[in-house]
Amino acid sequence: MSTTRRQVLLLGGLGVLGAGAATLPTGSVDAKSASRLSDSQMPRPFQVPFVQAPFLQPYTTGIDPADGLPVNYYQVTEKAATAQILPRLTTPILGYNGIFPGPTISLDQGTKAVVRVRNQLPAQHPLDGHALSTSTHLHGSASLPQYDGYASDITNPGFYKDYRYPNFQPARTLWYHDHGVHFTAQNAYSGLAAQYHMHDPLERQLLPQGRYDVALTVSDAMFAENGSLGYDDNTHSGLWGDVILVNGKPWPVMKVQKRVYRFRILNCSISRSLRPTLSTGDPLVIVGTDGGLIPKAQSVANYRHAGAERYEVLIDFRKYRTGQRIELRNLSNKNNVDYDFTGKIMAFDVTDEAVDTTDPTWNRIPTTLVGSEAMSLTAAQSVRTRRFRVKRNDVTNMWTINDDSWQDVIASGYKKVVADPAVDSVEIWEVENSSGGWFHPLHIHLVDFQILSRNGSAAFSYERGPKDVVYVGEGETVRLLMKFSPHAGVYMMHCHNLPHEDHDMMAQFRVGLKETDYDPNDPMTAARAEWDDDDD
Ligand code: C2O
Ligand code: CU
Repeated sequence: MSTTRRQVLLLGGLGVLGAGAATLPTGSVDAKSASRLSDSQMPRPFQVPFVQAPFLQPYTTGIDPADGLPVNYYQVTEKAATAQILPRLTTPILGYNGIFPGPTISLDQGTKAVVRVRNQLPAQHPLDGHALSTSTHLHGSASLPQYDGYASDITNPGFYKDYRYPNFQPARTLWYHDHGVHFTAQNAYSGLAAQYHMHDPLERQLLPQGRYDVALTVSDAMFAENGSLGYDDNTHSGLWGDVILVNGKPWPVMKVQKRVYRFRILNCSISRSLRPTLSTGDPLVIVGTDGGLIPKAQSVANYRHAGAERYEVLIDFRKYRTGQRIELRNLSNKNNVDYDFTGKIMAFDVTDEAVDTTDPTWNRIPTTLVGSEAMSLTAAQSVRTRRFRVKRNDVTNMWTINDDSWQDVIASGYKKVVADPAVDSVEIWEVENSSGGWFHPLHIHLVDFQILSRNGSAAFSYERGPKDVVYVGEGETVRLLMKFSPHAGVYMMHCHNLPHEDHDMMAQFRVGLKETDYDPNDPMTAARAEWDDDDD
């Protein structure tokens, strides 16, 4: 697809509706740029300093009378704002508290959270006029269904919803993002995404903390001439921007000491997958996956990282010299579209700032970390194997799971399910992507799973930890082992290439209940959003 034919949707209503080709544009010479910025406005790698999102402080704390556990109360407000992403132009965004990425929530296992999400967005998205009704999903949390960001459980502008998060799971990198039905891609792309860190004593002991525990929210974007975000999802196959952002800044540079750092890398791109690697050829040490610490650290030269996956990575800067620049690069993967600078992510400049060697994590590269329930499951425990095929209908340009879509769930009055496991049961789910031309990061809510195999072979070394998203590459079949606990109720599963999810590769499963059972945690009826009469 040539850039002249590419029709870019512009935030701000200046654009025309895209009528892109029904196929994925190839990484040909035509794909030189996605943005319409003039050369002088176009950001370039390594021009701006690295920043991190602020931490969100609870506005109050309390005790849950039901179990005596501490509770942190937070508030975030979804609103339209502008961001400084480009050198001279400002970019309209939608953000939690008006920033992208939104504020990071950080707490300890065993401290519950109540997060009031206030929807103060305009009634309609400036891009295409879709209603800005939102649903907030804490990705990585085994939340009750009514607090899980069920796509159709929407909060309209002017309303708020209190989300209750149990935080009983082991330490991990979670993230919260919009999940509003059929518009998740545009809403998350516009900025409604943020990290959420849960700590526990083992993780605190083993891995760097504080300023050496660094959130990297990586995404890609394309820009219109006036600096607003462009949106072209190539007839729902995906959006591939030509600008790589880390924590909302293009290809930033971070100053680092000569010590070990921990990076919580979230690929927050709505479609692009990454293959991170270091310019030095030195290894990345994978110490955590979506569901927390990996049992055994894995040193890799590079690894495949799809949207919504989280990898916790140690980088050892001890041996580099002061002033040395190390680049974190992206080798890319099949079925992505690459541009001149999408092979770079960010850079690290090594400083001679004194290292605190009383911090035992300064030089520690653990080899054995910690097991988890998901990783100790065995295939012999499985009571059932279910099979799912993820594919595209080339006539409708719609994506499905076993021919099912969220439209079918809506049409059934939210009853239709693709699986009905019992509470605490262990199952194997096999996911096949054989239609060709696409990869699908499949996310299953509620559970942490273990990847048993990919195409009959072992999972990649770096994904031998608890996962909630699995990269199902073109021509791949994965087998996943998981236990459905602790909650009963309905949960979604979907592709995390968000244009696929919205069109309409999302289904649901029901844990521990029959269709006719009363469900006290029905996300369409329990814990409704409330009118927000607070006037600030
Ligand atoms: Cu990160 Cu159902 O989503
Ligand atoms: Cu997909």
